[in-house]
Amino acid sequence: MADAADAAPRTDPPQRDLHTDRRTDLTYDPRDPATMANPYPIYARLREEDPVHWSPVLKSWVVTRYDDVKAVLMDEAMSVDRLTGFYRTLPSEQAETLQEIVKYLNLWLAFRDPPDHTRLRRIMRQAFTAPAVNDMKTSIREIVGMLLDRLEGRGEIDLIREYALLVPAYVIMDLLGVPRDMLDRVKEWSDDMAVFIGGARNVDDKYARAAHGCQEMSTYFKTLIAERRAAPQPGFLMDLINASDEADALTDDELVAACMLVLFAGHETTTNLIANSIHTLLTHPDQLARFRAEPEANRTAVEEFLRYDGPTNALVRVVATDHELHGRALKKGDRVFAVVASANRDPRMFDDPDAVDVARTPNRHLTFGLGIHTCLGAQLAREEGRIAVRAFIERFPDLALAEGERPDWLDAMVPRGISRLPVRLGG
Ligand code: HEM
Repeated sequence: MADAADAAPRTDPPQRDLHTDRRTDLTYDPRDPATMANPYPIYARLREEDPVHWSPVLKSWVVTRYDDVKAVLMDEAMSVDRLTGFYRTLPSEQAETLQEIVKYLNLWLAFRDPPDHTRLRRIMRQAFTAPAVNDMKTSIREIVGMLLDRLEGRGEIDLIREYALLVPAYVIMDLLGVPRDMLDRVKEWSDDMAVFIGGARNVDDKYARAAHGCQEMSTYFKTLIAERRAAPQPGFLMDLINASDEADALTDDELVAACMLVLFAGHETTTNLIANSIHTLLTHPDQLARFRAEPEANRTAVEEFLRYDGPTNALVRVVATDHELHGRALKKGDRVFAVVASANRDPRMFDDPDAVDVARTPNRHLTFGLGIHTCLGAQLAREEGRIAVRAFIERFPDLALAEGERPDWLDAMVPRGISRLPVRLGG
C-alpha cells in the first residue's frame, strides 16, 4: 500500500536548528534525478554517517538502517494518522472540497492507529484469508495470457502502459467484481484521487479533481455493494460484506472505504513490482540467464526483486510521543520516513546487499512493512509478481531494454517505480 501512504501531511514542520541538527556534510535530495534513478549510494552514506537524518528538503526525519526501520514500524510511539493534522490546517474552502475524500480516507485502516485499526483489520483480514483471494491464480494467468497475446508481433513497447499497469488493474477489478470493461473509468477515478493521495505538487485543480474521483468511485461501490446484498455472489466483496455482517459490523461507509483502499493499495504497488523486477533482470544479464534456466527459483527470485529494487521506497509515520533514536530527539508531530529501500540494502542484515541473487535465502526484506500494518495483500501481490514476470520473460526470449532509452523514475518518496520503460520485444 505504498502509494496511499504518501498522503503525508504537508503541514509546517517544527522549527529546527539545522546547524545543531546537521551531523554530516552529505546532502540528500530525493528530487535530484540521479538520486531518483539510483538512490542506493546515498542511502549507504546515510546509514553510515547519519542513520537518523533530519532532511530540510523533506522537513522530516529519514531513517535508513534495517534495525531502525524495523523499530520505527513496530514502535507504539509512532502513528500512521497523518490526515487529522493535515485536515485541521486546511483553509475552510479546501476543507469543504475535500470533506468527502477525507471522510473515506479516515476509514482506511492504513491511516488508523489502535484501537480503530485493530477492529478494522480484524474484520478485513477475514476477507483476505478466505479462499477468494487464494483462488485468484487462475484469473491472474488468464489476464496475463490475454495481455501477452495482444503484444505478439509488436516491436517496441512501453512496458508500464501496455503491461505492468494493466495486470494489477484487471486483477484487482476481478477481485472486487468490477467488470473489466470499466477499466478506463476506474483508472480515471484512481488517477484523480491519486493527485491528492500521492501528494502531487504541480496540479492546479488537484483538490477538485480528487473530490470528483472520490464521488464517482464511492457512488459506484455503494451501488455494487447494494447489488451484492440483493443477489449474493461468491467472491472477495461478498466475503467482505459477510465479515461485516457479524456482530461487529463494518458500516456502509467503512465498506465503501475498504473497497477503495483495496483498489488503491493493490494497484500501483504491484505495477511497480512487475516493472522493477523486469528492469532488474534486463540490467543483470547473468541473473536473467539464471532466472530463465531455473524456473524452480521463481519463489526466491520474486523475494529478491522485492528486496533489491522493490516497490516500497519509504513508509511514513508521525511521532506520537517524544522519544530518542540514536541520540536524536524525535518530537511529537515530526514526520518520519522509514526508508525500506535502504533497510533492504543494509549490509548488517544482508550479505553482499548490492548484488542481485535470484536464489537468495534467507531474505527478510521489509517491502511489505512490518508489525500491525503489514500488507494484507502480500500473498496476492507475490502471486501476481511470480506469474506476470515469468510469463513475460518466457514469451519474449529476445527481450531487451530499448536502445538509447532510459527509464523515467517516479518522483515520489513512498513508492519506488518507473513511469515509462521502453523495451524491445523481438530480435
Ligand atoms: C507488491 C505489491 C505490494 C506492496 C509492495 C505492498 C506494500 C504494503 C506496505 C509496505 C504496507 C504497510 C504500509 C505501512 O505500514 O504504512 C501495506 C499495507 C496494506 N496493503 Fe499492500 N502492498 C502490495 C500489494 C497489495 C495488494 C495487492 C493489496 C490488496 C489486494 C494490498 C493491500 C494492503 C492493505 C489493505 C494494507 C493496509 C494494512 C494495514 O494498514 O493494516 N497490498 N502494503
